[in-house]
Amino acid sequence: MPGLPERIAIFDTTLRDGEQSPGCSMNLQEKVSMAAQLERLGVDVIEAGFPIASDGDFAAVQAVARECRTVAVAGLCRTAEVDVARAAEALRDAAHPRIHTFVATSDIHLEHKLRKSRSEVLQMTREAVRLARNFADEVEFSAEDATRSDVDYLCDVLAMAMDEGASILNIPDTVGYTMPGEFSRLVQTVRQRVVGDRAVTISVHCHNDLGMAVANTLAAIDAGARQVECTMNGIGERAGNASLEEIAMAMQVRADQFPFATGLNTRELYPSSQLLSSIVGFDVQPNKAIVGRNAFAHEAGIHQHGVLNNPLCYEIMTPESVGVPANSLVLGKHSGRHALAMRYAELGYSLAPTEIDSTYTSFTELADRKKRIYDQDLIALLTARSKTNEALPIDVAAEIDVAAETARWAIGSVGA
Ligand code: KIV
Ligand code: ZN
Repeated sequence: MPGLPERIAIFDTTLRDGEQSPGCSMNLQEKVSMAAQLERLGVDVIEAGFPIASDGDFAAVQAVARECRTVAVAGLCRTAEVDVARAAEALRDAAHPRIHTFVATSDIHLEHKLRKSRSEVLQMTREAVRLARNFADEVEFSAEDATRSDVDYLCDVLAMAMDEGASILNIPDTVGYTMPGEFSRLVQTVRQRVVGDRAVTISVHCHNDLGMAVANTLAAIDAGARQVECTMNGIGERAGNASLEEIAMAMQVRADQFPFATGLNTRELYPSSQLLSSIVGFDVQPNKAIVGRNAFAHEAGIHQHGVLNNPLCYEIMTPESVGVPANSLVLGKHSGRHALAMRYAELGYSLAPTEIDSTYTSFTELADRKKRIYDQDLIALLTARSKTNEALPIDVAAEIDVAAETARWAIGSVGA
C-alpha cells in the first residue's frame, strides 16, 4: 500500500516580511484578522512580526500568538541576546511558539553590514540558537543571503545551528539572485553535507527580484526542501516574496510533479488575497496569477467553446478551486440591468446607459450558456465589446491579441 505523501510545511510571512514592504504596514487588529484568515487557509506557521523592531510589532506578535491556537506562531530575531529574549517574551502565550533567529553569512554582508569575521558569525549563531532553545522547543535558523555565501562556510554555519538544536534550517535567497537549477543544487548540498538523515527540516525563503521566487521555491522542493516561506499576493521587500497562492496552485495543479501534501484549503486563497488587499489598501495587478481579477477571464472567451465541449481545453484550474465567488447577480429584466450596472460600478467601471444596454444583451446570452458568471466574465465582456466597436486598420487589427479575439468569438457565437 502506498504511504502517505510527504508534507510541505507552508510558512507564511505576510505579517513580517510582507509587512516590511512599502505601503503594507498593518496595525495590531489588522494583523490579528489576517492571521485568523491564514489559519483558516491552513498554513502551518504564521510569522507574525519582528518583536524587537518596535513596541507595536511586539504587541502584534503577542496578540497573534494568543489568538491563533492551531498554527505555529513565529517571531523573528537577530542573534543578539536582547533580540532573542524579546521574541521569546512575545511568543510566551503561543500554543506552538517558534523562535526564528537569523544572521547573514555572505562575505558582502559580513564585511559591509555586520563588520564581523566568519568565526565571529559562527559564534553568534551558536549563542543565539542555544539561547533560543532555552525558551522554545522549536527554533528556526536562517542564513541571510545564503545564495551569495561561500558554500563551505554556509554549511559550517548551518551545521552549527543544527548542532545547537535548530530543527529548521532556512536557506534564504535574500536578494532574489539565484536561479532554479543553481538553487536546487544548493539545497541538495545542504541536505547531503549538513542534514543527512537527521530529523531537521530544510526550508527556503525566496525573494522575487528577478521574478524567480516561485520557480526557485518549487525547484527547492524538488531538491528536498520541506518548508517553504511565502506571502499572500507575493508582497514583501522590494519585488516581494514567493507568492503563497502560486506555490499552492502549482503544487495542486501539477501534483504529478509535486506528489506532496499541504494543509491548505485552496478555496481560502482568494478570500485571503482579498482580505490582504483591503487591509493594505491596494489591489494585486489584474493579470496576477491565481488571484488577479483577469486570472480566469478566459472563462468568457473561447473558453465558452471549451466549457461546452471539454473544459480541459483552456482550464487548468477552476475559479471555484481557489475560492473566487460566483457572481451573485440575479438576472431579471430591468432589475438584472440595474444589478449589472451596479456590479460594474463596484468593479470600477462606470458605464453609460447605452453601454449597459449593449453589454446587458451579451451578458444575458452568456448567462444562458454558463451556470456561473464571474467578475472576470464581466470584464472580458467589456474588453470584447470595446475591441469589436473599434474601427481598426487591418494591420493593427491583425495584431489584436488572442484573448481579445477569443472573447470576440464568444460574443459572436452566443449572439448568433
Ligand atoms: O530575506 C531574508 O533573508 C529574510 C530572513 C530574515 C529570513 O527575510
Ligand atoms: Zn525575506
